[in-house]
Amino acid sequence: MAIKFGRPLERIHPAPVETLAPPEPRLDLKIRPRRNRRAEWVRRMVRENVLTTDDLIWPLFLVDGNNVRVPVASMPGVERLSIDQAVRAAERAAELTIPCLALFPYTEPDKRDDAGSEALNAQNLVCQAVRAIKKAVPQGGVLCDVALDPYTSHGHDGLMRDGVILNDETVAVLVRQALVLAEAGCDIIAPSDMMDGRVGAIRESLDAAGFGDVQIMAYAAKYASAFYGPFRDAIGSNATLIGDKRTYQMDPANADEALREVELDIAEGADMVMVKPGLPYLDILQRVKETFRMPTFAYQVSGEYAMIMAAAGNGWLDGDKAMIESLIAFKRAGADGVLTYFAARVAEKLKKTDA
Ligand code: PBG
Repeated sequence: MAIKFGRPLERIHPAPVETLAPPEPRLDLKIRPRRNRRAEWVRRMVRENVLTTDDLIWPLFLVDGNNVRVPVASMPGVERLSIDQAVRAAERAAELTIPCLALFPYTEPDKRDDAGSEALNAQNLVCQAVRAIKKAVPQGGVLCDVALDPYTSHGHDGLMRDGVILNDETVAVLVRQALVLAEAGCDIIAPSDMMDGRVGAIRESLDAAGFGDVQIMAYAAKYASAFYGPFRDAIGSNATLIGDKRTYQMDPANADEALREVELDIAEGADMVMVKPGLPYLDILQRVKETFRMPTFAYQVSGEYAMIMAAAGNGWLDGDKAMIESLIAFKRAGADGVLTYFAARVAEKLKKTDA
């Protein structure tokens, strides 16, 4: 008889049949949660959260020129678009029933200065894009970031003096930037700068200038995050940024402080609030939604997008499944919507599964 590792490979005398028969353990369970998961129809029936195209805000990067699409290396599948291409993207968004776009300009280096003055140029790239998009697709929403970082030579969101980011002086400029954007036809002003008091100042000026219908989505709890890296490639501010943004963006270690920030922005007149980044801050998102019951949005930022795309590109995970799972997580945590670079891709997928 063959022996391997000291044990016989075959039995000389087969064991009695009874002992070979598999045991039939039966737990005495009245409650078996798996029953509601046993087929797709019932999983659909008991599903608590649903992702639809209504939940999506699609961020686009803009660049000068005509018929230009420049890939962003750290964000596979994302390109900087010239205005004509951004208009095509807006038409695609409308077809996909994505309600809103968010616009971010790449500003040519020769237009950047200490004061970020290009932000106040009514003919700047983002203002021209707003006009073109609102003309072509008037039924869709357009959101614009208010902050100076695409325009400053030092890459900061505000004015800098002796290495210090000035608060009140910056707010005065942001107010003018918001007015220029509203004048161009922007529907939602989204201050992303984290200066104190900017929401109230912007609201007051919009109202005084006759833009009472223009909404404000405050980047209310925005953290000083490493996950913005690819975005800064896309708008060219990685090259310019001096130091970091920790004197105005929040410390990732803090949670209660986020509630105080959100409370202030609501009191100052924010119509909607946002938590940013997304997945690493789901706890904040949930607390904000539960505490204030406001329209609450999450920003799945560039680094989150890049991580999923990089892993998918290497064959390390299923990109589409990871995309859907990450987006439903925002819904589960209480988000009313998500700014995501996956917007068009996930909308295509949702459309297919509907059909
Ligand atoms: C600019 C701004 C940033 C993002 C949105 N608006 C970057 C930053 O604050 O440095 C990040 C978006 C992303 O990473 O996708 N104030």
